[in-house]
Amino acid sequence: MIISLANQKGGCSKSTTAVHLCHWLKTQGERDVLLVDADAQRSSSIWLDSLDIDIPFKVVQSPDDLLDHLPELAEKCEALVVDGPAGLSESTRAILFRSDIAVVPCQPSGVDIRSAADAVKLIRQAQSVRNGPPDAVLFLSRAVKGTKLKEEALTVLKKSGFDILTTTIHQRQVIADCFGQRATVWEMAGKAAKDAQTEYSSLFTEIIKRINNGNS
Ligand SMILES: Nc1ncnc2c1ncn2[C@@H]1O[C@H](COP(=O)(O)OP(=O)(O)OP(=O)(O)O)[C@@H](O)[C@H]1O
Ligand SMILES: [Mg+2]
Repeated sequence: MIISLANQKGGCSKSTTAVHLCHWLKTQGERDVLLVDADAQRSSSIWLDSLDIDIPFKVVQSPDDLLDHLPELAEKCEALVVDGPAGLSESTRAILFRSDIAVVPCQPSGVDIRSAADAVKLIRQAQSVRNGPPDAVLFLSRAVKGTKLKEEALTVLKKSGFDILTTTIHQRQVIADCFGQRATVWEMAGKAAKDAQTEYSSLFTEIIKRINNGNS
């Protein structure tokens, strides 16, 4: 099973979501998880490496290497989580050609929502070439509580034709602090961390339910 975090828009939370998804999968039923870091910044692999929990990772970056190696890596584990790069459409395309499900984080600001259209376009192309897959879901990430942007963003995103997960991940300082603390929200203390844990668990439960129900 290849689950990719894909959106060429920088900073929408692909790496943060990928690391938290790996951690969550690992602590849920001892799943055999592997992360592929496709980003030259290597933030998700450096982050995983800093955690106490042992989750293996591979850095695979060129479009050719991604196309060639993702299937064999997926055979070695139960869940292969791919952290996609910003900007690089060809790498994103290669990832989408190999993914079972593409999870697209979208930040609910006007500019970012428009750039989600680029990700949607690449997914549609991959689905057309592959005659179906990858399944694709969008979710709102880094949403600021108390702003109207969220509702507006949902209206725009619905036009993509892809399903939008019901869980929104809100902007929280505790999430931004995790990388520097060599932690995920599950190792952080306090109410904000608890709230973030609840949101991530809910988001990942939705994704896994969707995979298990055979949509992807
Ligand atoms: N829910 C959140 N609340 C607060 N900060 C967040 C949240 N999600 C991500 N961030 C912060 O936003 C920044 C961008 O997140 P991240 O690196 O995960 O995005 P990305 O999509 O992987 O970016 P890139 O495209 O550059 O790889 C980071 O500093 C991260 O700590
Ligand atoms: Mg990243």
